[in-house]
Amino acid sequence: MRKEKPIQRYNALERINHWIVAFCFMLAAISGLGFFFPSFNWLMNIFGTPQLARILHPFVGVVMFVAFLRMFQRYWRHNLINRDDILWAKNIHRVTLKEEFGDTGRYNFGQKMVFWLAIFSLLLLLASGVVIWRPYFADAFSIPMIRIALLVHSVSAMVLILTIMIHVYAAFWVKGTITAMVEGWVSAAWAKKHHPRWYREQRQKQQEEEP
Ligand code: HEM
Repeated sequence: MRKEKPIQRYNALERINHWIVAFCFMLAAISGLGFFFPSFNWLMNIFGTPQLARILHPFVGVVMFVAFLRMFQRYWRHNLINRDDILWAKNIHRVTLKEEFGDTGRYNFGQKMVFWLAIFSLLLLLASGVVIWRPYFADAFSIPMIRIALLVHSVSAMVLILTIMIHVYAAFWVKGTITAMVEGWVSAAWAKKHHPRWYREQRQKQQEEEP
């Protein structure tokens, strides 16, 4: 039997966009943990010196936010929750045993949760980050306001870090997923197993394009 052709999942621009977000995230998360925990102060050296880390961390955060907005614009429609997601979520204990549930589209419920948690925590990080950003904006806010912003910034950073840890674990755990974001393609078997509705949509599109 002839092997089915691989299916494109992300084009080059989408992949570059995603890796800019991921790279900025690593820099911002590592330097941020360096500011937060005295025992991790050495992590600030990711930018060369602690002083540079202090200056560059907020700018890197803004780049991450802007780059993520492009991803948000591209994928929000595919991340809307539907009835099949509820079935998937209800059977999460069996999903961890590598079974699949529901007629999953481009993204499954777990991926959708990562998507919404990422945009939610990034919005909070941006808003609270502006309030605490010295020397540019912090002077415009009262001390109690800055204290609240510091708390919001730390909690939302923890939420984003934990979310991305799960995201990265899942990306490596589900065999064949990493190639989607590195090379842009997935195998037909991968698509059929994990995203059956998306697989059918892609095949139909291919058939319409091919005479
Ligand atoms: C740091 C290492 C990272 C790795 C190894 C990684 C890996 C991947 C892979 C393999 C995919 C494709 C999954 C698929 O199409 O089924 C993906 C998609 C995605 N990634 Fe990442 N990623 C990383 C960091 C991040 C970060 C920091 C963010 C956001 C702050 C992020 C947000 C997303 C989003 C939104 C998608 C599309 C899935 C969706 O919309 O639900 N990733 N990632």
